[in-house]
Amino acid sequence: MAEALRVGIAGLGTVGASVARVLSDKAAELTRQCGRPIVVAAVSARDASKDRGVDLSSATWFVDPVKLAEQADIDVFVELIGGDEGPARASVTAALEAGRHVVTANKALLSRHGVALAEIAETKGVLLNYEAAVAGGIPVIKTMREAMAGNSVSRVFGILNGTCNYILTRMEAEGLSFDACLKDAQRLGYAEADPTFDIEGHDTAHKLSILTALAFGTKIAADDIYMEGISNISQADIRAAGELGYRIKLLGVAQRTESGIEQRVHPTMVPTASVIAQVHGVTNAVAIETDILGELLLSGPGAGGNATASAVVGDIADIAKSRPGFQHGPVFGWPAKELKPYKKAQMRSHAGGYFIRLTVHDKIGVFAAIAKRMADNDISLESIVQHSAGADNQKTVILVTHETTEAAVRKATDGITKDGHLTDKPQVIRIERAG
Ligand code: HSE
Repeated sequence: MAEALRVGIAGLGTVGASVARVLSDKAAELTRQCGRPIVVAAVSARDASKDRGVDLSSATWFVDPVKLAEQADIDVFVELIGGDEGPARASVTAALEAGRHVVTANKALLSRHGVALAEIAETKGVLLNYEAAVAGGIPVIKTMREAMAGNSVSRVFGILNGTCNYILTRMEAEGLSFDACLKDAQRLGYAEADPTFDIEGHDTAHKLSILTALAFGTKIAADDIYMEGISNISQADIRAAGELGYRIKLLGVAQRTESGIEQRVHPTMVPTASVIAQVHGVTNAVAIETDILGELLLSGPGAGGNATASAVVGDIADIAKSRPGFQHGPVFGWPAKELKPYKKAQMRSHAGGYFIRLTVHDKIGVFAAIAKRMADNDISLESIVQHSAGADNQKTVILVTHETTEAAVRKATDGITKDGHLTDKPQVIRIERAG
């Protein structure tokens, strides 16, 4: 039998401990599949004494993950520390420079430094695998990197954050408050350490930026992503969406347009009958539209220790199966030096349908004034409904537009606000075409 693949794991939190347990519990199966054993030879974590449900006594412990990456007798460095700078960036860089393969689940690191790290990996002839960084256990990286050569992608979109999808699902199904659902997500271990990362869309944006590079062969441009989170989605929005035949999801969308590539993360209304609307709870889904393949939808568990560990272990096993002298494919599906500069489409030119919820003073002429602002901005309305429910002297007006532009909607809602008819800020939610 070939020599064991020696793995060093930096970070033994929920995911790191799950990875160590899976490697131990499934040692016999993995050895048979890979033709060689995989052993955890070194680890780095803050607390060496904590019980993680796996025997790590034969691994060498390092306090400093950079030292582990540089000095440990390992073939693969597994980074599960998190964060786009500090020890995560330093240790991954050190491991690649030392000619070691790297497996990481770190979307923040890749969204900021992925191209530079890919250049090092490709120069050194080692693998940088990151299946767990996007959509947890769904093999979307392998699919886009390895199975879609020759396809021209027009749009990639998905539910990329389990915490947000869990919150929106429970708000809709049980009529619960946003805060109560967030607390449960944290208790169940789905949420990031800082929940604003999940609920304000940063986590989705990091993942989307990686998918954009894979889809369009562009440099990663996470800072260009238009971002809105779900913290201002209310029961009123969820109920109105349901009445109109929509469901609200936090989507990340990257789309090729005439003016460049649009990257956006925001609460989105998708038709209730669409496939993506059936994705509930912590489950993630990614839809990829291409010229040759058509539309592909992948869905599966997107958060939690075991789902993420499954992807990390798959990446480690790929390295165990590769043989010396084998030429590794490029990290982002295209050689890092070939990734093109990114041409950003401005959000104001985004075209689509819009849901607009207005809370207005109950006075004669308000409806007419709203309709006039819409007409003045060339916005064609699909429906306009006034809800009688509301506080004294207030009414809710719900508009659904035909395809228009973000610029027109902003001008119209600014105009309605200036007219003085609103008692609250307008709520605007984009509608996404989905099959
Ligand atoms: N916090 C993430 C989510 C999981 O809720 O999907 C890790 O990316």
